Amino acid sequence: MALLWIIIKGHIKPVFGIDGVTSIFRPLAQPAQEIKETSLLVLAVCAVIFVVVAGLLVYALIRYRHRAGDETSEPPQVYGSNQIELAWTVMPILIVFVLILVTSRTIADIQNRKPPPGSVQATVVGHQWWWEIRYPELGIVTANELHVPASTGDKRQPTFLKLQSADVAHSFWVPQLAGKTDLIPNRENRMWIEPTKPGTYLGNCAEYCGTQHARMLIRVVVHSPDDFDRWVREQQAALIETNAAEGRKAFFANSCVNCHTVRGTSAQGKFGPDLTHLMSRETLGAGAVTNTPDNLRLWVRDPQKFKVGCLMPNMQLTDQEVEQITAYLQTLR
Ligand code: CUA
Repeated sequence: MALLWIIIKGHIKPVFGIDGVTSIFRPLAQPAQEIKETSLLVLAVCAVIFVVVAGLLVYALIRYRHRAGDETSEPPQVYGSNQIELAWTVMPILIVFVLILVTSRTIADIQNRKPPPGSVQATVVGHQWWWEIRYPELGIVTANELHVPASTGDKRQPTFLKLQSADVAHSFWVPQLAGKTDLIPNRENRMWIEPTKPGTYLGNCAEYCGTQHARMLIRVVVHSPDDFDRWVREQQAALIETNAAEGRKAFFANSCVNCHTVRGTSAQGKFGPDLTHLMSRETLGAGAVTNTPDNLRLWVRDPQKFKVGCLMPNMQLTDQEVEQITAYLQTLR
């Protein structure tokens, strides 16, 4: 029943979040589509087995229930039957064998996909508790929002991801785009996604990685090809505004720069998210709160308020510094 509910829920109108629920039963990209088809086949086979076994059980319960007079006679005693034993050994083996073949075909199909020319390459690094996203070929570094182009009929543009971890094991999971793949220290895993419909797809870390595992959300923003080119150009620019000079000074006078990078400045810290285009992102703290001026101010004052245990400490800034730094950060568009 629970499974049925999940399947139905996956097909009803969006309940929360952007662009519907993040259901594996509503795939909007490869390889999620292919995985869903395989899963439905496996589910169907298991459903048939369930109905047969449950049906036989119910039949036996009713047919051989306790009746008056049972105490005086014994039912027939069956000691071993080659036919029955063969049937319940051979049939499950055949079923399992079919499922193995179908599943391994899907796995091989997805894992052996080679990047076609024009595909986008990105590296995703899991951190406690945020996602670092790099596009080495495009010279872009960002965080928590993976931007990719939609793949259209005449212009196939899948995105190939290299997955790494800076600390513990994490898992990259955007249900409507692909299955889960772990990010493991000292190892590089690979996966690819090929969405065809522009929109925002929500996902989260799917491997317990510490206190704030639940607030390690990822969003994948799928652009039309033109839109993606525009986003790339915007991100490539290292824009330095000067109308928040006080805040800029406060930012560089405090230890912000030890952990954060603002391209085009001396801030080159690598422990925390790159802030060069902070205001282009929808959330703060990897999906902990939406990126509004009020939330940004509260975040700068004390990140522990929204995300207890996160690695950015309360910097004990004065009210004036909080205002100035917030003003400066808001120029990072
Ligand atoms: Cu990262 Cu859970």
